[in-house]
Parts: sequence; C-alpha cells; structure tokens
Amino acid sequence: DACFATVGLDLRHNSVTVVPQGAGMCDLFHGEWVHDSSGPAYTNATCRFIETPQNCMSNGRPDDGYLYWKWKPYGCEVPPFESKTFLEDMRGKHWALVGDSILRNHVQSLLCLLSKVEDPTEVYHDKTYQSRRWHFPSYNFTLSLVWAPFLVKADVFEDENGFSSAEPRLTFDVLDANWISQWTTFDYVIISTGQWFFKKAVYLEKGAVIGCHFCQDKSLREVSIDYSFRRALREAFRFITTSAHRPVVFYRTWSPSHFEGGEWFSGGRCDRKAPFKPREAGDRALDNLMWRVERAEFAKAAADDGGERRRLRLLDTYEMSLQRPDAHAGPYRAYQPFAKGADAGKVQNDCLHWCLPGPIEAWNDIIMQMLGED
Ligand SMILES: *[C@@H]1O[C@H](CO)[C@@H](O)[C@H](O)[C@H]1NC(C)=O
Ligand SMILES: *[C@@H]1O[C@H](CO)[C@@H](O)[C@H](O)[C@H]1NC(C)=O
Repeated sequence: DACFATVGLDLRHNSVTVVPQGAGMCDLFHGEWVHDSSGPAYTNATCRFIETPQNCMSNGRPDDGYLYWKWKPYGCEVPPFESKTFLEDMRGKHWALVGDSILRNHVQSLLCLLSKVEDPTEVYHDKTYQSRRWHFPSYNFTLSLVWAPFLVKADVFEDENGFSSAEPRLTFDVLDANWISQWTTFDYVIISTGQWFFKKAVYLEKGAVIGCHFCQDKSLREVSIDYSFRRALREAFRFITTSAHRPVVFYRTWSPSHFEGGEWFSGGRCDRKAPFKPREAGDRALDNLMWRVERAEFAKAAADDGGERRRLRLLDTYEMSLQRPDAHAGPYRAYQPFAKGADAGKVQNDCLHWCLPGPIEAWNDIIMQMLGED
C-alpha cells in the first residue's frame, strides 16, 4: 500500500469498513477498476432523473468506454445494487443525502436505480430545487436531498448563474439549519462536503469575524482551507454524536476533481478515456490533505460515539473516485457542446461532477454491501 503510506494507515485500520470475506478480510475501498462488459445499470433512455449537467449520453458524449468498468476491491467482489431488496429492507424509512452538488449527483444515481422498481413522486422542492424530496408509495420510502454545502451556516451571495456579489460568510459554531431542522425525521443519512471550502470566504465564530480565506484585499487573518474544513466537520460530528436522535450516518469521503491544464475557469479539461491504474493519479497534495482531515475527524467522532456498532460508517470512496479521471461530464455538461456554430474554444469543462450513469453507481453498490453487514 505504498501509495497511501503517507496519509495515515492508522486511520485506515480504525475505520469500520472491513468485512469478513471467507478466511480473510476485505477492504471495500481499496482496489482498482477492472473491465466489465455488462454495461451500466441504467441509461439516459431508461431513467428520467438524470439532470442535464450529468447527462453525458444525451448531451452527445461520443465515447462510451467509461461505462464498462467495475470497482474491484482486492480480495472480494462488490455485487450490483439490488433495488428491490433495498426498498423492501427500507420500508417506511427516510434517507437523507446532505451536502453539496456531489450529493445531488449521488441522489440522481440512487433515484435511477430505485425507479427501476417503482417510479417515485416528488413531494417537495425548495425554490431553487437544491433541496428535494421523493416518496416511493408502495414502500413508503422517502428520499431527501438536503442542500447544505458547508454543513455549517453559510450566507452565500451568489445568483443562479454562479455570479457572486460578495464572498460567502461562514459561521463555524452554527450548523446549517437546512439539515439540523429535519434531523429527527432521518433514519439514514449520507453526509459530505467538499470543494466549496476552496472558495474565498469570510469566517465567523461567536458572532465575530475571525478571518478569511483568500482575501488579500481585506486586513483579515488568513484561514487555511484545511482549518475551515476541519472546523466545519468537527461541528457537524459533534452534533451527530451528541444528538439524542441517532440515525445511521454514512460519511462519504472527498470526491476529487480531475482538471488538467487549468481550472474550471481557465480552460482545464478532463479528456482521459480510461481509469487511472493505482498510483497513476500522482501525489494530489491538496486532495490528500482534505482526505486526511476528514478521516481524522471521522475517527475521532466514531470514538466519541459510544461504540454503537455500525452507527457511524465511513463511506471511503476517495480512492476509487480518484481513479476515474475519465468519468466526469467534461464538456458534455451541456447539450452538444461541439455542434456546428458553437465556439469550441469557449466550451467549459466540468471535471468535478460525474457522468450518469457512471462511477457513482459503485458508491451505491458499496452502500448496499455495507447494509448487508448489519
Ligand atoms: C440517449 O442518448 C443517445 C446518445 O447516446 C441519444 O441518441 C438518445 O436520443 C438519448 N435518449 C434520450 C431519451 O435522451
Ligand atoms: C410511512 O413512513 C413514515 C416514516 O417515514 C411514518 O411516519 C408513516 O406512518 C408511514 N406510513 C404508513 C402508511 O405506514
């Protein structure tokens, strides 16, 4: 495991992700992508829940090699998600996916898998469709998407086109009411956060500004991204471990982007056509830093949680996601980006979100496997 030797093997052993497999133990999160001819679990033609920015098929992505890979942990297999079994086991339950747009990406995958059994009804959405809820009537199963990109309270001054009139203001010691207010209704929670912490932001604590990230124009103390990430996670985990209501919580680890030759705003692209082999992804100092922070905070939270088995779960998908530079939407975040008349030089790439179908299905396969351990 030389590749990850520098990022804390102690934490890997602390995690609650190992499952007995015959004589040995298998870490579901350590492995590689192998060729698989069976193809995706659904397509753009069979699922109505794929939103345009993730709908690489409908948007005209010409290659389909990215659909023929399967996550293969060393030492075991992860069988495909079983929608009917899942719904039967979760009768009457409420699942919530809490976090940023990667959770939105994830909920679409889950909806596509589950809607093969029953078409759900949307029963709620907020004004901007960032928070939504669906109900599967035959199973009385509820699935919520809860927008809370920083997990802590954040005032964001950004319009629908992503134009911001001022930097976000985060309050470290107050959690985002969007998820806290519904907490007692959740039976299972998938929670995560991510790249929003890279943005310029002002930070407050106990009602006062304590610093800022990336604000050279202000005479404020610089707050590092790993500090703010850690601080927000700690606050979220403190709530999760001390709340009287105790749903099963999956913390999903860092979902890396794969921009090459620039960032999203400076011509960065992700044109690779195959997964990375283990170690091929390179050092990734920043991604590794965030991954290290979240695993350390998770380990502390799990230790504080009173030892209840399988209550706090680490959905440690970082490594498998890191190996998929080929599966982001890239230019196919938009319909026919290279159609005649389009300005090919101006096409923006999304190398953060994932094509659907795509590698997120493997996250769901693993969740199914982890539920089976109960
Ligand atoms: C699905 O994508 C294919 C191209 O991969 C396209 O021809 C077809 O029209 C799309 N179907 C729907 C329902 O969008
Ligand atoms: C459906 O599930 C909810 C909990 O999610 C529960 O409160 C309600 O009583 C259930 N309804 C039926 C008809 O079983």
